[in-house]
Amino acid sequence: MRITAIQCAAGMLLACGAAGAVATSATGVAASEKPATYAADQAARGEAKYLSECEECHGDDLKGGLNGGASLAGNAFNEKWGEGMQASVLFSYLSNEMPPDNAGRFSAKTYAEIMAYILMRNGYPEGEALPTDIDTLDTLVLQR
Ligand code: HEC
Repeated sequence: MRITAIQCAAGMLLACGAAGAVATSATGVAASEKPATYAADQAARGEAKYLSECEECHGDDLKGGLNGGASLAGNAFNEKWGEGMQASVLFSYLSNEMPPDNAGRFSAKTYAEIMAYILMRNGYPEGEALPTDIDTLDTLVLQR
């Protein structure tokens, strides 16, 4: 049964509260289909950080191969990290594992900027800035 706004106005406060909760979680499900995007200026800041902190192993073409760094571009990378995976998974990996000698040294804002740059280089859509909190990143998917 759907509870309408008119029924709410009629005073079914408890029922309306419940309906509100359902509506919120329904929005959450819809939001989890939303593609992750980044802002251009965010990716530009990420590029500067990438070049100073990641390039020595992952290369300026993101193809990796230096000091054992994995490729961060192309089909293999996108099959592993793209294809509808939650943006939070890649964000957590970056925050918890990279750079290997001092993982987690940057702020969430900086990790989001670096991730924005990687997404940009892989042809992901530009749009709203990539968020920095894990709960919001959970609702976004990596989909080109
Ligand atoms: C000292 C070399 C080094 C530096 C610096 C470094 N990485 Fe890595 N990175 C690696 C290695 C080695 C792996 C593979 C780790 C594994 O497979 O367990 C890796 C894996 C990754 C992966 C996962 C790739 C995949 O397909 O599994 C990502 C994403 C990544 N690095 C991003 C970054 C970012 C962003 C930075 C800069 C903040 C960074 N790395 C700095 C060496 C490095």
